[in-house]
Amino acid sequence: MVNVERIKKDIETMAEFTSTPGEGVTRLSFSDDDRKAREYIKEEMNKAGLKVYEDAAGTVFGRREGSKKRGKKAIPIMIGSHFDSVPHGGAFDGTAGVVAALEIARVLNEEGIVTEHPVEFVAFIEEEGSRFGSGLYGSRAIKGDVSVEQLKAAVDDKGISMYEAMKSFGLDSAKIGEAKREQGSIAAFIELHIEQGPILEHEGIDIGIVDSIVGISEYEVEIIGSPDHAGTTPMDLRHDALVEAADLIIYVNELAKTAGEGTVGTVGKIRVEPGAANVVPGRVTFTVDIRSGEQETMDEIWNKIREGIEALKEKGFDANYSNRLYVLPVKLDEDIKKFIEDGTQKLGYSYKRMASGAGHDAMVMASIAPTAMVFVPSKNGKSHCPEEWTDYEDLAKGIEVVFETLLSVDKK
Ligand code: GLV
Ligand code: MN
Ligand code: MN
Repeated sequence: MVNVERIKKDIETMAEFTSTPGEGVTRLSFSDDDRKAREYIKEEMNKAGLKVYEDAAGTVFGRREGSKKRGKKAIPIMIGSHFDSVPHGGAFDGTAGVVAALEIARVLNEEGIVTEHPVEFVAFIEEEGSRFGSGLYGSRAIKGDVSVEQLKAAVDDKGISMYEAMKSFGLDSAKIGEAKREQGSIAAFIELHIEQGPILEHEGIDIGIVDSIVGISEYEVEIIGSPDHAGTTPMDLRHDALVEAADLIIYVNELAKTAGEGTVGTVGKIRVEPGAANVVPGRVTFTVDIRSGEQETMDEIWNKIREGIEALKEKGFDANYSNRLYVLPVKLDEDIKKFIEDGTQKLGYSYKRMASGAGHDAMVMASIAPTAMVFVPSKNGKSHCPEEWTDYEDLAKGIEVVFETLLSVDKK
């Protein structure tokens, strides 16, 4: 039986590993908090008798052997989510799915179940991209999508590259390629996650079965104008980088609204330099995050923004952009969705199929293994903020559903 007290303890303990105590969870990759959180996860995995290891990317795995040593059933089923967070985020985003994995390992032991497949319980890092700007890192490394060059190019706010940060953390960044797993080497990936939106709570539904996940494209844009004296430089002689950035930011918002059909566009991070009240902004750097169920829509919006950026060059600005993340919209596996549906019905819980507007490691895993996701309700739909909350009883229901699904996938 899934134990509510145990999952409460896991969530509460993990929430202590934050650099912003009292102001939400801030757990950046390869930080002290990452270290403490991964030690806790590994300790719990060890207690559950799992064989614990980290791959070349720093993703944590706990493996439980199955009864079959040869053939298709010797391929592992994976269950898990990520354990990094956004700045001042909540205690449940990602962590809920890691806790689900830990709890399922314990329940399998308590019920004396030996699966046919091995099961690998997984805790990914840098899913959010909060430190180095390009997320879904642990799963992309498994897909073979992260190169040494990318690690060297991705830098945090202090100018530390991911390559260096991993090395200081004790990982051999030059071996990132070894994290890759071949297509067909994972029997299934199942991720439990909080919904991060209001639908399940609003409709009084226990479980969300994710049909599809939106595509995400993320860019960093740099506009270079001229830093000048704010008192002496006439308005018509300025090259104010922030004014141009402001126009582009509004444009992102307008384009996403016009596209409709759930398309969203966000500028969530901006740096203004030199950053003084009495200096005309000379340089602005900002992110653009575009999401849509349709790749064409995602691309059309970016192309218009890109044209806007290019046009700045004719006005005497220097402007650059680079892509940070590009993941296509995905449909999740129909067979596993059906197993989730059956499990939910068996347990007597209500469910609905829904799309995910948030990105998840599942969207990358889906390209190398049959993949599915289970959502549990988020209080007031809040997420990526300290108020993020899911009742432990609701989380327990989701974990039970994933447990049932695992057994069905195993028997398939
Ligand atoms: C992750 O939470 C994302 O949707 O960017
Ligand atoms: Mn998130
Ligand atoms: Mn998440």
